[in-house]
Amino acid sequence: MSSKGQFGKGHEVPVQHQKVPGLESKLDPAPIYDQLPTGDGKYQPYKAAGKLSGKRALITGGDSGIGRSIAILYAMEGASSLIAYLPEEEEDAQETKRLVEAKGGKIWLKSTDLKERGNCKDVVEAAVEKLGGLDVLVNNHAYQMMVEDIKDLDEEQWLHTFNTNIHPFFYLSKYALPHMTPGSAIINNASINAYIGRPDLLDYTSTKGAIVAFTRGLSNQYVGKGIRVNAVAPGPVWTPLIPATMTEEKQRQFTSPMGRPSQPSEIATVFVFLAGPDSSSISGQTIHANGGTVVNG
Ligand SMILES: NC(=O)c1ccc[n+]([C@@H]2O[C@H](COP(=O)([O-])OP(=O)(O)OC[C@H]3O[C@@H](n4cnc5c(N)ncnc54)[C@H](O)[C@@H]3O)[C@@H](O)[C@H]2O)c1
Repeated sequence: MSSKGQFGKGHEVPVQHQKVPGLESKLDPAPIYDQLPTGDGKYQPYKAAGKLSGKRALITGGDSGIGRSIAILYAMEGASSLIAYLPEEEEDAQETKRLVEAKGGKIWLKSTDLKERGNCKDVVEAAVEKLGGLDVLVNNHAYQMMVEDIKDLDEEQWLHTFNTNIHPFFYLSKYALPHMTPGSAIINNASINAYIGRPDLLDYTSTKGAIVAFTRGLSNQYVGKGIRVNAVAPGPVWTPLIPATMTEEKQRQFTSPMGRPSQPSEIATVFVFLAGPDSSSISGQTIHANGGTVVNG
């Protein structure tokens, strides 16, 4: 493979800027979505094993970053998907479609603003109609913007972040669950920030804490009905969210105890695990794919 997208130990993220929500097509180096690091600075192709054969998945924020990699690995594992994303990201979504189809997968696209409750309902209905049912809901989309001090964090941003990051997780789960049967799974994308209490992303960090608690409560409602609900809490991951929302200084510090940010593929593998039978006894949990930061919970 090319050296694009590789972060060796001590390798800094090249500082760059984008407008929110950020496009993967403009990200340099390009993130890695279907290969995994071997530990010696090289990458090997993801090896699929039919783990999600016949599954039907709705993936929010599936156009780019972690969501794109989830759509691609799900396709490689035999699942079909519908991805939802903001209209500004049509270009990234079309590229994800191309990449999924190149792997022989089936994918449908729906651009929409999930802050609107009605749009959450429409997306679930579109997924059920196009896919012929629904077995996996991946709540993955999010908004963040850095503000150092609560005094400068305006009320509108606080509401916008909650309206984007947590309320749709409730709506989408509520509308999706009546279509799900035993063996189905909901997987929520949280963040390391809920556990370390990141100060410059107070609103975002608060929504991610809510997602962890939502995951636990919803699991306790549905685990007895055979539907598992889990979360993933990534650390730094190289996606368009970063240059669109982080200052130059914070981009320079964007690393983990492994000495590099993770690639989307390293997080997407956890979403494969949690959607399929390999995680059949796991529910209500959060998996910390964070590059080695030890956290409690
Ligand atoms: N990148 C990281 O370092 C990191 C770390 C921890 C957690 N996460 C989480 O990973 C998830 C995916 O983010 P990513 O880093 O892959 O970035 P990304 O920018 O590639 O994906 C975010 C997606 O959210 C979607 N989105 C945002 N607002 C929306 C709205 N109102 N309606 C519909 N879609 C909307 C966008 O379409 C976008 O594709 C997020 O939940 C994020 O919080 C990322």
